[in-house]
Amino acid sequence: MNVDLYTNPQEVSDGSLASRTVVVIDALRASTTLVTALANGCREIVPVDTVERAMATRKRIGPQGVLLCGERGGLKIQGFDLGNSPREYLPEVVAGKTLVFTSTNGSRAMVFVRGCHLGLIGAFINAGATARRILSDSAEVAIVCSGRENLLSIEDMTCGGLIVSRLLELRPEAVLNDAARTAHILYEHYAHDLLGLLKTSDHGRHLVEIGFGDDLPFCALIDTTHVVPVIRDSKVVKE
Ligand code: MLT
Repeated sequence: MNVDLYTNPQEVSDGSLASRTVVVIDALRASTTLVTALANGCREIVPVDTVERAMATRKRIGPQGVLLCGERGGLKIQGFDLGNSPREYLPEVVAGKTLVFTSTNGSRAMVFVRGCHLGLIGAFINAGATARRILSDSAEVAIVCSGRENLLSIEDMTCGGLIVSRLLELRPEAVLNDAARTAHILYEHYAHDLLGLLKTSDHGRHLVEIGFGDDLPFCALIDTTHVVPVIRDSKVVKE
């Protein structure tokens, strides 16, 4: 089994995901938020790339039972129901609801990987379950980090490295590309202090500055849920 990691979607060549199981990671915070939303009973999520498309999508599917969610610059978008803090996505808020979700990098990556063999959403909180779900299918694996404004983000790489580590525990013969190997080394380096890594990352520092520092310990938890969101027909659902 080959496991290739990409530090952001721009590195992925056209059509190369069609036969692969793809894991999208935006550890701070979109993938953690969506895993949490589904774990807390939300019905489905429609990820979209722009604010305009989010508003049009809600208009199309109607306001009943639908929440408009997401961020720009880390902050809740004006007129939206929820921002992108996983701590907002409580059972009493999201259970049974459809979420239309847009975020700066994460939702764009989710839209980008549509058409792949199987799309999953990975975070620190569901890394082990993600690795097991990957191995329940025989396809080759692509881990697509969302990155930050088309650049590498260290927290996505490290989360990818944790998923690689969980995969290697179960399939030691897996063949890693250089980026997946690098991510694995990064995870082993920071495993003892993931929160410290998040606090000192570019995006982590930004989140602290705008008042979302309490999201970092939440996003740094490892293997707290078995929920692995699946990207299916333009929607993200719990299997
Ligand atoms: C993103 O999609 O860029 C992030 O999730 C941003 C954030 O932390 O809100």
